[in-house]
Amino acid sequence: MLHVIDKILLKEEDIQKLVSKTAKAIYDSYNNNLSLTIMYILKGAENFAQDLYNSISREKKVLHYIPIRASSYNGNTKSSNNVTVDLMQAEKFIANNHILLIDDIFDTGATMAKVVDVIEQYKPASIKTCALIERKIKTNRKFYLDFKGYSIEGDDFLVGYGLDYKDKLRELPYIATIKKEFHD
Ligand code: IMP
Ligand code: MG
Repeated sequence: MLHVIDKILLKEEDIQKLVSKTAKAIYDSYNNNLSLTIMYILKGAENFAQDLYNSISREKKVLHYIPIRASSYNGNTKSSNNVTVDLMQAEKFIANNHILLIDDIFDTGATMAKVVDVIEQYKPASIKTCALIERKIKTNRKFYLDFKGYSIEGDDFLVGYGLDYKDKLRELPYIATIKKEFHD
């Protein structure tokens, strides 16, 4: 599968710097005595969420650290607007808690918007969103991220550090682009 890779965009050490920077922005933005409930979107956000959790929890109490599911890509490199959310019983950790929702990459924003919508039905005290990467898109978004690590221009499809191409290449320690001929 490595033959689909074009260029390395972020090396391991670049990613770790982005994680530290993002963690700092997060704990600086919350009151000291407030504890966070982290929810992250499987499977892509697993690596980022784990590293962010390690960094945040050195400074701040993390009450719960919980995976949820959301999918829109259906194995393609193009987003579909049809997002399905499965809270996997995370709903019991939402009411009156401060939720930090983590995803790997923010593209159209449809995934985050839908998950926030679902979480809000369970009455959190607050909810903020964070993604490692935001893709700059030309159209106006209706939904914005609270925290991001890095922005990319254009429509490169990314793999590695949790991000997958057809459920492969998540295990790469770096983030790379794939060759255009493998885009759908
Ligand atoms: P959105 O709903 O359009 O914002 O797309 C975000 C979701 O699509 C993320 O949760 C990712 O799983 C997936 N995604 C978007 N772009 C990429 C990419 O370049 N590589 C891998 N997954 C991606
Ligand atoms: Mg995803």
